[in-house]
Amino acid sequence: MKVNGTPYRSLWWDDQAQALKIIDQRWLPHDFRIQQLDSLADYCTAIRDMHVRGAPLIGATAAYGMAFALRRHPSGTSMDEAYDRLHATRPTAINLRWALDRVKAAITPLEPRDRAAAALALAHEIADEDVEINRCIGLHGLALIRAIAETKPAGEPVRLLTHCNAGWLATVDWGTATSPMYHAHDAGLPLHVWVDETRPRNQGALTAWELGSHGISHSYITDNAGGHLMQQGLVDMVITGTDRTTRRGDVCNKIGTYLKALAARDNDVPFYVALPSPTIDWTVADGLAEIPIEDRPEREITHVQGRDSRGIAMVQVTPDGTPGGNPAFDVTPARLVTGLITERGVCEASEAGLAGLFPEMAAQ
Ligand code: MRU
Repeated sequence: MKVNGTPYRSLWWDDQAQALKIIDQRWLPHDFRIQQLDSLADYCTAIRDMHVRGAPLIGATAAYGMAFALRRHPSGTSMDEAYDRLHATRPTAINLRWALDRVKAAITPLEPRDRAAAALALAHEIADEDVEINRCIGLHGLALIRAIAETKPAGEPVRLLTHCNAGWLATVDWGTATSPMYHAHDAGLPLHVWVDETRPRNQGALTAWELGSHGISHSYITDNAGGHLMQQGLVDMVITGTDRTTRRGDVCNKIGTYLKALAARDNDVPFYVALPSPTIDWTVADGLAEIPIEDRPEREITHVQGRDSRGIAMVQVTPDGTPGGNPAFDVTPARLVTGLITERGVCEASEAGLAGLFPEMAAQ
């Protein structure tokens, strides 16, 4: 995607520096800062403190983190240490474990001297695959948006609602929930996107920044506004991302997603979830019982970041001493999900639906 006319991915390997460059998302939408990761600690901090975020991007970053660690020390012990340190950074998004497992399985049989180059090549492959997967998700989602557009008078926009940032910043490119929006806009379909602010970290501001840069009409709304907009008939379709999807189609995504799904069901608004297949955890059936929900620091609740005339500032919103509670994700049961938009097509949120599209993965 383009930032001020220049094409960017959300991370890239700098051949000259022989290092990974990331967009440090903590400063967006106000400041566009690029960071180079120069140590395993840098990789871990970048994921834990959300310089990079979003399930697919966390996975790709971790793959490069393994490659980085093996350049320094290609032994099995150092590979295991890198795996454990990266894996401990964030517990909910399954792409992290998926990417680490994939790199580890590929390099374990190799001679130590061959491991670093193989891990780097695989990290590049994972990043490129993510871009292609998300492009395909966009094409399948476009068909759904087009079907809604065809029911409307010419020129009337399809009104979408999205939660958090499942945009190109949360992936290597295109995004998951946003890819259908970019494809629909590029195909000339009129759109308007309601963007949930997504407290506490306001990832909706990242989505607004992305959509604005791409020229897509949107409004930034409070998390509490979605139900009202649906009651007023102002939402044609909800599309969110997911950090982990169970084999039965339960969806674990940013906190607040479940409430949007409930409101959508009550108002007969289709609720779709866009996901790349690495986000499916085939080892888990019941999302509520089995997915670990990340508890994040209470300062994310008691304080909020914004910009004033002096620059970016953090201000306290709660009385001194009031404790905050910060569960970062929730689970939307499959029964509330109209459909899953994957790189292989759209399916029912169920074991049969997912297995129909990914039989080789379901069988493992
Ligand atoms: O805590 P974050 O910002 O990493 O959470 C991100 C989300 O919940 C996204 O919506 C999800 O990862 C899907 S990203 C394509």
